[in-house]
Formats: sequence, structure tokens, C-alpha cells
Amino acid sequence: MIIVNKLSKVKSNFPVMVGKKAISARDCEILINEIKKAKSFDDLIQGGRNRINKGSKNFKNYLKKSKLSKKLYNQFNSKSFYRKVENCFKKTFKTYGWSNTFLPKKFLAQKYTNKKLMNSKELVKMLGKSYKNPDVNLDIDFSVSRGGYRLRPHRDDVTRLYNFLIYLNDIPKKNGGSLTIFKKKADMKLRKSFKRFPSISELTKVKEFTPSRGSVIFFQSTPNSYHGVTLFREEKGKKRFFIYGSYALSKPVVWKYKNVSYLPKIKKTNKKLLTSSHDSDYFMKEAV
Ligand SMILES: [Fe+2]
Repeated sequence: MIIVNKLSKVKSNFPVMVGKKAISARDCEILINEIKKAKSFDDLIQGGRNRINKGSKNFKNYLKKSKLSKKLYNQFNSKSFYRKVENCFKKTFKTYGWSNTFLPKKFLAQKYTNKKLMNSKELVKMLGKSYKNPDVNLDIDFSVSRGGYRLRPHRDDVTRLYNFLIYLNDIPKKNGGSLTIFKKKADMKLRKSFKRFPSISELTKVKEFTPSRGSVIFFQSTPNSYHGVTLFREEKGKKRFFIYGSYALSKPVVWKYKNVSYLPKIKKTNKKLLTSSHDSDYFMKEAV
């Protein structure tokens, strides 16, 4: 139901692909109605985004009642589709230089990144010492945002390989809510480190995508894949409906730029946070 063969390359400093009308207007309408009918959401994050997350009881109930969401979920939640996405990136971005060091062995359809709250010590323990031999799984949520939703520039969680967004309705540009791609003002791939949350003054805007019905964005979650969402203003009760997903490893991704490895380091905190909210920087692996 979603067409990924016609994605086109975006001029950016990390691999990004976009597709217009990857989902038909009719299907978008049906998906919006399914989300509208959802009785409850799992959480409210980022100033106004309600989610139904893979792995929750709620998600299971939602899929039972939502035929098309289930169909889309099944399409993404398969090894063959993961491979398709991966091949698409490999073919399109031959010369970009970024790759993940340890290729996943198995695709785990039932697995999802847990949404438990933990401090950095617990997270580091959960991630383990060795990042070799990872598996891969799909994480996905069905989302609706109201006014006030925004996302400061960041790079995604350390386990993410590929991320994608599916927009279900048109958002007028003046209402904000655009996905913005950034790069560091001094864009060098060979850096000692990549922060997860660089300050806005260190970044320049590369591109802005205004959500339009049926459009999709796929990007590789490389250490420099900085992106954010501008403040969304709701007009006449028109919300922002979208689906967010990613293919994530069961362990942190060890990124490689050409022959240089980058390893993540979780920042220490006693605060109990979602695993995906923890701060972490990627550091160039020192030669030993
Ligand atoms: Fe993100």
C-alpha cells in the first residue's frame, strides 16, 4: 500500500529520500479516521504529540479495530520490507560513506524498543558491553499532534538505523510543523564527536519539508542526521496526523564513516527518562 520504489534523493549532508503520493489520498483519509477513532493513546510528548506505540496493549487494540493501519504495519514489520529499504539506501547513496559496522542477523517482528523510564546507569546496563551481532526490529507509532508540538534539533536514538515519516494530511506552511533538516555550520564528517543535541547556533538549515498528504521521508540515522520540527500552530482544530517509524538495532549502532568508527556514549543522569530521550554523543574511536 505504500510505494517506496519512487523515492528521490534529497540534497543533504546525510542520506535522505522523499516520496510524494507514496500513499493514496483515500488511504490517508482512512488512516486519519482510524487514528481519530482511537480510544486512548500511550503518551503525550514533544509539547502536543499523542502516540500509539508498537508494543503496548493499546497498540494491539488499535490494530484490531484499524484495518488499514494493520495492513501498513504488516508491510513495514517484515524482513523483506526492511531489506527493500536498506537496498534503496545503499543504491541511492553509494558515495556518502556512512555505514553501520555490524549488520543485523535476524529481523525480530515481535520486538520493539521499550518505553520504560530508566536512568543512564540502567540504560547502559541494558545496552550491554558488546555491540556486535545485533538483531533488527521495527518501531512504529501512529501519531496526532495538536498545536504546541515542536521538536528541537537532534539526532535520533543510538539504536536507530533508518527512520521514516508518513504524513497523512496537508499542513499549510504558515501553520509550522515542518520537518527541518540541519547541518553543522562547519560540516565535516571527520569530527571527534557528534552531539545528540547541538545548540541551534551551531547549525544551519538545509531543508524544510511541509507535511503533505501521502508524502514520506526516509533518512539514515547517521551521527550527523540533525533534524527537528518547527512549532506547530493548530488552525480550526486541524491536527497533524502522521506515522513515525524506524528500523532499530537491539544494540547501539557503531557507525563508520569510510574507515573511521564512531561509538556512542550515554550521558550520565539520575533522571528516569525514556530510553529514546537520553542524551548521547558519538565519539571517534581512538586508535589503540
Ligand atoms: Fe527524531
